[in-house]
Amino acid sequence: MLFESLGRIQNPVVRSLTAALTTLSVITLASAIAIGVTKPKDESAYKTAIYASLIGAGGGALFGWTFKGKGNQLKATQALQDEQPTQATERSTWKDWRNFVVVRKVKESEEITSFYLQPEDQGKLPSFQPGQFLTIKLEIPGQARPVIRTYSLSDYAEPHTYYRLSIKREPKPSGLDVMPGLASNFMHDLIHEGAVIPAKPPSGKFVLDVEKTLPAVLISNGVGITPMISMAKAVTRLNPERPLWFIHGARDGSFHAFREEVSAIAAQNPNLTIHYAYSRPRQDDAGYYHSTGYVDTALIQSLVMQDAEYFLCGSPPFMEGLRSGLKEAGVPESRVFFEMFTKASKVTGDRSLTKASNGDVEAMAVVFAQANQTIAWSADSDNLLEFAEANGLNPPYSCRQGICGTCECKLLEGEVEYQTAPTASVEDGSVLLCIAKPKTSNVILDL
Ligand SMILES: Cc1cc2nc3c(=O)[nH]c(=O)nc-3n(C[C@H](O)[C@H](O)[C@H](O)COP(=O)(O)OP(=O)(O)OC[C@H]3O[C@@H](n4cnc5c(N)ncnc54)[C@H](O)[C@@H]3O)c2cc1C
Ligand code: FES
Repeated sequence: MLFESLGRIQNPVVRSLTAALTTLSVITLASAIAIGVTKPKDESAYKTAIYASLIGAGGGALFGWTFKGKGNQLKATQALQDEQPTQATERSTWKDWRNFVVVRKVKESEEITSFYLQPEDQGKLPSFQPGQFLTIKLEIPGQARPVIRTYSLSDYAEPHTYYRLSIKREPKPSGLDVMPGLASNFMHDLIHEGAVIPAKPPSGKFVLDVEKTLPAVLISNGVGITPMISMAKAVTRLNPERPLWFIHGARDGSFHAFREEVSAIAAQNPNLTIHYAYSRPRQDDAGYYHSTGYVDTALIQSLVMQDAEYFLCGSPPFMEGLRSGLKEAGVPESRVFFEMFTKASKVTGDRSLTKASNGDVEAMAVVFAQANQTIAWSADSDNLLEFAEANGLNPPYSCRQGICGTCECKLLEGEVEYQTAPTASVEDGSVLLCIAKPKTSNVILDL
């Protein structure tokens, strides 16, 4: 019990002091009881008691200092043991939407604001794998149906008493005459402390296996920092011996979220190396960043000179550049993990249907059973989600990349083919509209 408590103290000075004071108190108390019972006449008995207390305190201090490694291992094992049953219990009870209360809202940078969520039912929260996301549902005035979006869990607090989402206000893309981001602007402007938001359990396969020993390199730009924080915190807590890099790109200090928080993780973890690259630093930023320019493969290679696993999250061009750069540098694809929050912009939803030009494609018909519409498949649509939107339907979606499962729809007849393998799990007889195209001449969807 005492050793377990000691093991939970991360700071070696505090741990050492605690052990010293505990030993001092125990020996002093024991000596006092012994003196009280035996009532010795000899003054040397009192001196011996004082010396014993002081020597005990010194030994306690030394023990507390050297107890670090064992304590952390104990803590890591204990944490895993503690979490697994909780995970099992909670998973069995929380499967669909569960109401969460926004208990704290914190501005992190010019664009990013964090929302701390606690379950309205005050029940336990399951643990999650660092890198996973939460799917939330928002009732936005003016929208015909709830808007569903996915946001990475941006914290790894112990114990898991809250979940944190950190959301970037999404502006409209330059050059496009469209509305700014629906969910993100709604969250920033209209969701305050006390608001209730339904969420599905943590999910996603962009995860870091904390038990591995191979060095891990976390590389992000912009809001792509969110899963990296939970990964860095989880490794620091559960496997602190693992070498870790946290490499992040931002425009300048005002757009750089979580700078102090990541520095605080590094202060606890001597195996964590931080590098911040600012593309347009301000004068005020002097001393807070390490290089000027973008995060690219050359920078990564100059910092990491050993075999490692790479975790990437950021804007589409940033990710494309790094993925091809790492490949050229000889990093096996099996060592590179990535998640894209958005697909490259493309105007959708308001295009008129154009007739298919290719003979095979022309022969394909898509039936939207609930809407009672049969429409010839258009080669202009990249996937069935876009096709449905182009024809005035409004199926739920979030990631548009086969990650979140929000667009899952029952396939009543026919077959589809996927452009990329789905990351989300899909029930038998259902398909993910956002990555599927018709394969057979007749496809009937429960839409
Ligand atoms: C696994 C995962 C994790 C994620 N984690 C995070 C996270 O931690 N933090 C975070 O901030 N985001 C995260 N995202 C992104 C998030 O889910 C949303 O996609 C993001 O917030 C934008 O949603 P929105 O409703 O604000 O914008 P949307 O309304 O979906 O619009 C997105 C963009 O498209 C533009 N647009 C609007 N209409 C059109 C049109 N007709 N044609 C073309 N463009 C249009 C908008 O102006 C906007 O720029 C994550 C995504 C995934 C898949
Ligand atoms: S919208 Fe996420 S899987 Fe299709």
